[in-house]
Amino acid sequence: MISIRSLNKSYGTSQVLYDINLDVAAGSVVVIIGPSGSGKSTLLRCINLLEQPQSGTITVDGEALLYQQYTKKEAYRLRRKTSMVFQGYNLFLHKTALANVEEGLLVVQKMPRHEARELAQFHLSKVGLSDKMNAYPAELSGGQQQRVAIARAVAMNPKVILFDEPTSALDPELVQEVLSAMKKVAAEGNTMIVVTHELAFARDLGTKIVFLEQGRFLEEGPAQEFFAHPQKERTRQFLQQFSTDYSYHI
Ligand SMILES: Nc1ncnc2c1ncn2[C@@H]1O[C@H](COP(=O)(O)OP(=O)(O)O)[C@@H](O)[C@H]1O
Ligand SMILES: [Mg+2]
Repeated sequence: MISIRSLNKSYGTSQVLYDINLDVAAGSVVVIIGPSGSGKSTLLRCINLLEQPQSGTITVDGEALLYQQYTKKEAYRLRRKTSMVFQGYNLFLHKTALANVEEGLLVVQKMPRHEARELAQFHLSKVGLSDKMNAYPAELSGGQQQRVAIARAVAMNPKVILFDEPTSALDPELVQEVLSAMKKVAAEGNTMIVVTHELAFARDLGTKIVFLEQGRFLEEGPAQEFFAHPQKERTRQFLQQFSTDYSYHI
């Protein structure tokens, strides 16, 4: 579904991603882990062209784009194939939950109003927000706001959904409801790239884990194997900061 080749990204003179190669199969969940500052957000932002890498190529659903040189039309087409869920939700504060989910369907996809409404209601119900459709973000908990953001991302029916630490801003008791919503999204066969420190989620729902450190992929592997038998000392050291069973309940 997605393949990235030889991606290099610098900010000014400081390089933050080095020769990144990544393949994401359709319907898989690739989880990117790594310390703060390793380039995880930058990598996600390069995938949907919020940042422009200096070199490399990205192919999404059979369409390749050359990072050094692409047209506006190519960028637009690539962006439409991705949705992003941010740590800080990024909802429109003056719009209700329903209007937040409808927005992209109406403006970007030019969907008829009644269709957009039905689809938005459907996706909000799926994340357990049937009774909050008319609430404004300020009237919702962080977990509820993030579930609106997830409904909004999924409703656009993208080829891939990018999640950048979706639970990091949440109080611990709200983390599980968001992970549950993500679990549902994964179970429905969506292709996902997830940056998270929720390692139990990564182990149980990840297809592939990638460990990023200082802009380089240090180790990657199938989820169960990655956690059971990390190959590199540095990977073991990173995983050791987390509790041994990564326990969680969803
Ligand atoms: N807009 C920017 N301008 C300059 N440097 C940046 C910018 N965004 C991120 N960086 C730097 O790039 C590196 C990687 O950042 P980031 O991708 O946010 O890492 P992570 O998400 O893994 O914490 C960091 O050193 C950060 O300071
Ligand atoms: Mg980040």
